[in-house]
Parts: sequence; structure tokens; C-alpha cells
Amino acid sequence: MTNKAVIGLQWGDEGKGKIVDFLSEDFDLVTRYQGGNNAGHTVIVEDVTYKLNLIPSGVIRGKFCFLGQGIVLDPEHFMNEFKKISEKINNPQIFLSSNIPLILHYHKQLDKINESILSGESKIGTTAKGIGPAYQDKVGRKSVKLYELENHEYLKDKLYTIKKFYDPILIAFDEKPIDIDETIIILSNFFQEIKNLIVDNNFIKQNFMKKKILFEGAQGALLDLDHGSYPFVTSSNTISSNIVIGSGLQVNYETLGIFKAYATRVGNGPFPSELFDSVGDYIAEKGVEFGTVTKRKRRCGWLDLVSLKYSCEINRVKELCITKVDVLNDLKEIKVCKSYEGKSFNEINFSNSNFLDTCNLVESDYEIFPSWGNLENNDYQNLPENLKNYISYIENYLDIPIKIISLGPERNQTIIK
Ligand code: GDP
Ligand code: IMO
Ligand code: MG
Repeated sequence: MTNKAVIGLQWGDEGKGKIVDFLSEDFDLVTRYQGGNNAGHTVIVEDVTYKLNLIPSGVIRGKFCFLGQGIVLDPEHFMNEFKKISEKINNPQIFLSSNIPLILHYHKQLDKINESILSGESKIGTTAKGIGPAYQDKVGRKSVKLYELENHEYLKDKLYTIKKFYDPILIAFDEKPIDIDETIIILSNFFQEIKNLIVDNNFIKQNFMKKKILFEGAQGALLDLDHGSYPFVTSSNTISSNIVIGSGLQVNYETLGIFKAYATRVGNGPFPSELFDSVGDYIAEKGVEFGTVTKRKRRCGWLDLVSLKYSCEINRVKELCITKVDVLNDLKEIKVCKSYEGKSFNEINFSNSNFLDTCNLVESDYEIFPSWGNLENNDYQNLPENLKNYISYIENYLDIPIKIISLGPERNQTIIK
């Protein structure tokens, strides 16, 4: 069996955590390759709810889990998450790449400052976890990386330079300047606790290159730094081409693209099929569309096949998974966006928010489907015809088969087609 990547095709929260847990039974190693604790993945197994931000969902089945160099890691957050999962899972098998850059206190302060100087609709609406500033430091060659934590003198010198660079900004915005001694104490305590989890990329290659690997995406393709609706994006490349760079594993893989039967977005940015009426409120309520990380209400809208086709293309998606179809069960009619003012996906510039803001959808941009009513959790053949027609329409539009259908948050509420 080939390696697989589970990639969100919308603006995140497609149900990646649930499906990674579902699939991980057949894999040896589950790997994150980008993002940080801006991700929030909820998995429910036999009435136990797991909320994961950094640790791959394969941990629930006791699989080996690897956090690659492409992620950013907040030490304090990681320790909390590791302790919490250790209460539920016996001896979780987690490896951290020694190359991982850290999110430190000043990154969170800088995230806050960045947002505070933007006004109204121009605010990104970040998760305030310091993700952008931490990636900025990686690109700017100022990150503190895991492999540096052993050498206090070196670390002190490095933090001194960082302090010179950032203190003027922190002070100008009434934020506490960087406290080098305090940071060193936090980092050495952290290092003592996790040093046994740190491995270099050679270790992972030697032990796992020939095993079965499942890659867990975070965020979604439309939040990709380069391919998403810039500047309303996250600060990493979320698409599948980043897997080799972010994991350090030079392997082949096939991409399973995952999307909800409708669309949601947290934070600001263009959302052409957004609903502003009671149907949108109904979907938010029934779908429990409140962020795992920030508890913000997610904006809701109809499924957008135009952007989905773009996401499939940029991720080279081989097969699809649709989630949360149960949320639409009781609606009288279900709409699907098939064009933007008559234009198809290759006429749209998805990486330019200014362009997307000018797209105003009209009624003829939507296909309408009749309700499919309540769903039984059994096999594909027994699903209502109306739902099967809806699924076929999506498959034909995208020209990619839907292989997994999710009918509820529980691991076993999943149908393979
Ligand atoms: P992720 O970030 O892509 O892992 O997705 P989240 O976990 O943030 O959000 C998906 C939410 O929907 C979680 O609360 C899941 O428990 C829930 N969920 C996943 N699949 C389904 C489904 O098919 N139906 C319903 N009703 N809920 C689902
Ligand atoms: P999962 O993995 C949904 C959004 C934020 C904001 C933008 C930038 O759970 O699908 P950031 O803090 O990354 O700088 O914020 O990206 N965002 C997400 N939205 N799901 C996520 O992750 C997200 N991670 C970041 O809301 O709009
Ligand atoms: Mg999420």
C-alpha cells in the first residue's frame, strides 16, 4: 500500500483529525509537516473526545507519530498537550524533529501587535498563537530550533540578538520586553522533559522510509501561504507539495482531499458562497461550527465546487472524502456553487483576495438538490438516492472519486464507497 496524505481542501476544519484517526489503522507512522497549534483536530472514539493541536491523530491508535521540521512548536503548549494525551493513551510514541523552530512568548506578542495595527475587515483574524511571527523568524534565520536547546551559552547569545531586534517594537506597543533569563529557564525545563523525544531526520529516514506513512495536513488548501487568498491565509504551505520539505521524508504518497458538504471559514477573507441568512445560522448550530482553538463561530456557506476544483488541482488529489453530510439532512434544499458569475475555476485568481472580493455570486451559479432526509449509518448502497445523486454530481464536476463519506463525528460513522 502507498503512503497517503490527508489534505483539507477548504479553509480548515474539514474533519482531517477524524479521518486521519480512521485511516491510521493501516499505517505505521503518522506525520505532521506544517502548521502549529493553530490547528484544532477533534476525534471522537466510543464517547471519548480527543482534542489535538500538534500531535497527529494517529496517536489514538498507538501509532508512531512524528512532528517534522516544517511545523512550529510552542513548548508550553506541547507539554500540556503531551500530558493530556498521556492521561488517555498509554505511552504515546512521539518523535520531534531536532530541526523544529520554536514559538516563543514574543511571537505571540508580535502576533497580537500585527493584528492590532490592522483595522476592521483588514484584520486577518489569526488564532493569536504566534504562528506568523514564528515562521517569519524561520525565514529570517532567527528561529530558536530544538537542537539548540542543549547549549545555554549559545542560546543566551542568540536571545540577546533577538532581544535587540524585537524589544523596540514590543516596548513601543506596551508589551513586556524579552526576558532572557526567564526564557532560558522555560526552555531548559522544556528540554529536560522532552529531550528523549527529539530525533534527527536521519533517524526517521532510517526507521520509517520503508514503512507505511500517513501525512496529516493542518489548515486547508485555501489558507495556503502561496496558493490561498493572500493575505487572509496562514503562514505555512498547507498543500501536499510541502510534504517532503516539511517532513524531511523523500517518499511518494497519494493525496486524499477532504471537504465538508458545505463550507466554513474562521477569521476574515473572501468567502464567495457565504450564507448570511437563517440557513447559515442553522448549519453553524447543527454542525457545531465553533473553533476548537479559539472558540470563534465559524462563518458558514454552501459547498463551493469552483474553489474545490482548484484545491484538487494544486494538491494533485487522487481521491476524496466528504464529511458532515448529516448536518444537511433536514434542509429542504441543498445548494452547491458551480461557477462564479458564470466563470469556471481556471478563470478565477484564488491567490488574490482583491480579485476574489469582486466575485458576487448569482442564483445561476448554484445547482439545487432536494433533501435526502435522515441517514442510517450502514453501507453506501443503502444511502438515500438524493444523497447519492448529490455525491455523483460532485464526483463528475471534480472528475475524482469520493471514496469516504462521513456521517457523524464518531470514528465508526464512516462509510467507504
Ligand atoms: P479538522 O481541523 O479538519 O480536524 O476538523 P475539526 O476537528 O476542527 O472540525 C471538524 C468537527 O466536525 C469536529 O468537531 C468533528 O468531531 C466533527 N465531525 C467530523 N466529521 C463529522 C461528520 O461527518 N458529521 C458531523 N456531524 N461532525 C463531524
Ligand atoms: P485546522 O487544522 C481553520 C485560520 C485563522 C486565520 C488564518 C491565519 O483545525 O483545520 P494563523 O493563526 O494561522 O496565523 O491564522 O488561518 N486558521 C484556521 N482556520 N482551521 C485551522 O486549522 C486553522 N488554522 C489557522 O482562523 O483566519
Ligand atoms: Mg480544526
